[in-house]
Amino acid sequence: MKVIVTDEVAPEGLALLAQDPRVEMDIRLGLKKEELLAIIGDYEAIITRSGTNVDRDLLDAAKKLKMVARAGVGIDNVDVDYASARGVIVVNAPFGNTNSAAEHTMALLLAFYRNITKANASLKSGEWKRAPFTGYELKGRTAGVIGLGKVGGRVATRLKAFECEVLACDPYVAVKRAHDLGVRLVSHEEIYRNCDIITIHTPLNGETLDMIGEKEIAMMKEGVVLINAARGGIFNEQALLNALQTGKVAGAAVDVWSEEPPRTELLKELIAQQRLVVTPHLGANTFEAQINVAVDVSREILNYLDDQPLENA
Ligand code: MLT
Repeated sequence: MKVIVTDEVAPEGLALLAQDPRVEMDIRLGLKKEELLAIIGDYEAIITRSGTNVDRDLLDAAKKLKMVARAGVGIDNVDVDYASARGVIVVNAPFGNTNSAAEHTMALLLAFYRNITKANASLKSGEWKRAPFTGYELKGRTAGVIGLGKVGGRVATRLKAFECEVLACDPYVAVKRAHDLGVRLVSHEEIYRNCDIITIHTPLNGETLDMIGEKEIAMMKEGVVLINAARGGIFNEQALLNALQTGKVAGAAVDVWSEEPPRTELLKELIAQQRLVVTPHLGANTFEAQINVAVDVSREILNYLDDQPLENA
């Protein structure tokens, strides 16, 4: 099987595939869309992260393609319906990076509350200032977790460890899950109206695109803090910019963008906001997570070759 890897995936995790004599693997990072379209016809499997759009153009050009293996959770960069219609199997790695994503969410939140990014830049520039970087505690705050899946659940547990009261909403989870996590399941509106911190952990799809816009922000408390380490586009970015500028949103921490890398004027202006802590889609970027997801997708390709059931199709 000829396999092309188009995004950075941990080589330790791909070793399983590389060692199999049935597999010929090419690692081709940073290809432009036209370059990938010109060569994809030779391959039977593609391994990607979020950097490659597996869209109709690619699937049409990929005449021999049997499998799209997404080394991560989100499959919003893959046209799954079109792939399925063409008989191409889509697999992902739904478990391996969820802990890293939850830890990154906490890192963003703490960085915002304790002014870590600003204080770091100040001390490195030779200053010694303390008062401007006075922060706030998480203890005693009400935090809202939207999406109580594998990442959201872990974030909820960590927020509780910081002595936050945690509310959650997720129309797709059983009340028992919330009960087991020790959080109260409420409506979206209750989250918007009652929380000091709102963190989002849903996939990006038709239901969640622009889920938090002007109307939702208007319902929120003055000075709310928003976190998005899930997917760009779930918070409407124009609405977030406006709310940061008016102070309705006291601050936000964002790891993911509607366009990656972000190039639009709107995103540049948003990223430049003083009260916004930003990272370039690093939620899943730990050595542990990257090895886990690479092993998971490698196993799926081997399952396919061995005619064994697929675990994450
Ligand atoms: C995911 O969906 O699991 C992550 O966004 C993966 C990535 O970092 O590409």
